[in-house]
Amino acid sequence: MNASTLRKLLETEDAALLQDLKERAHTEAVRVFGKRVWLRGLIEWSNVCRRDCLYCGIRASRSGVARYTLSKESILACCQNVWAAGVRTFVLQGGENPAAAEALVPIVADIHAAWPAATITLSLGELPFDLYKRFREAGAGRYLLRHETASPAHYRRLHPAGMELETRLECHRELRRLGFEVGMGMMVGSPFQTTEDLLADLRLLQDFRPEMVGIGPFIPQQNTPFADQPVGSAEMTLRLLSIVRLLLPEANLPSTTALSAVSTHSRMEGILAGANVIMPNFTPARERAAYALYQGKDAAHLEAGEKLDSLRAELSAHGYITC
Ligand code: 5AD
Repeated sequence: MNASTLRKLLETEDAALLQDLKERAHTEAVRVFGKRVWLRGLIEWSNVCRRDCLYCGIRASRSGVARYTLSKESILACCQNVWAAGVRTFVLQGGENPAAAEALVPIVADIHAAWPAATITLSLGELPFDLYKRFREAGAGRYLLRHETASPAHYRRLHPAGMELETRLECHRELRRLGFEVGMGMMVGSPFQTTEDLLADLRLLQDFRPEMVGIGPFIPQQNTPFADQPVGSAEMTLRLLSIVRLLLPEANLPSTTALSAVSTHSRMEGILAGANVIMPNFTPARERAAYALYQGKDAAHLEAGEKLDSLRAELSAHGYITC
């Protein structure tokens, strides 16, 4: 798709055109994946973060956050729950915290030894390349690091001074060089975002061709600099999911928790718009509430690992099986 086609899809209000986009994306997802949805067990390992991203509920300077880091025993217990639920990917996600991440390397090796058939995905921010390498050697196969926005100027408005898009892109290139499957992604409707910014996101995705793309609406969090900014649109999020499905037919695209948090049924709508992944949350209940990236995240209890039966039933009602 060329730039003018993409621009039209981002800007149009023509319902027939949008319906056609959604149907083409869904058909493409079914062609590539069949009527299957891949589940990934999310384990929010730590909400301690050295960064101060303006949008984020676990930013370093936000007060009132009960900071935690799961113990090795707790992480292994989470993995056991994920495995017992029939889910074969563990996603360890956390704030950016290189010192604590060091301690996670041997834990990843233990997880890999205990469940050699499982895929281990990490999402721990920008880390020293040597640490990425040791995670890879310990058995991690995938790394999620959203680029947030592909426009350097917009990136600077979402992050404190000193954080640069280029640094993040260097991480993506290094992760790929190390043999990780790489995930990128962006928030839809983040403050100051324009159509040009979204076009830059799509160009970046077309150039880099990441194996995964996480796309969710921006949702304001209290007590952050963006607390009073409007929430991103679920409709525009679904639209981007469909466009990205057509640009990258084989990419893993989650129907994200943030999407579920802004509108009911949107998790299924994400699948019907071209997504092929859902990430149920297996973080222990007490810590889950403290991993408050955005307002109402915990209310998206639909995503709870304990509710997997109802998730499977909902998917099954639409003719999908999970794997
Ligand atoms: N709204 C939506 N998504 C958010 N994230 C962080 N804060 C918010 C927010 N307020 C997303 C970012 C980050 C991921 C872990 O969560 O895209 O990469």
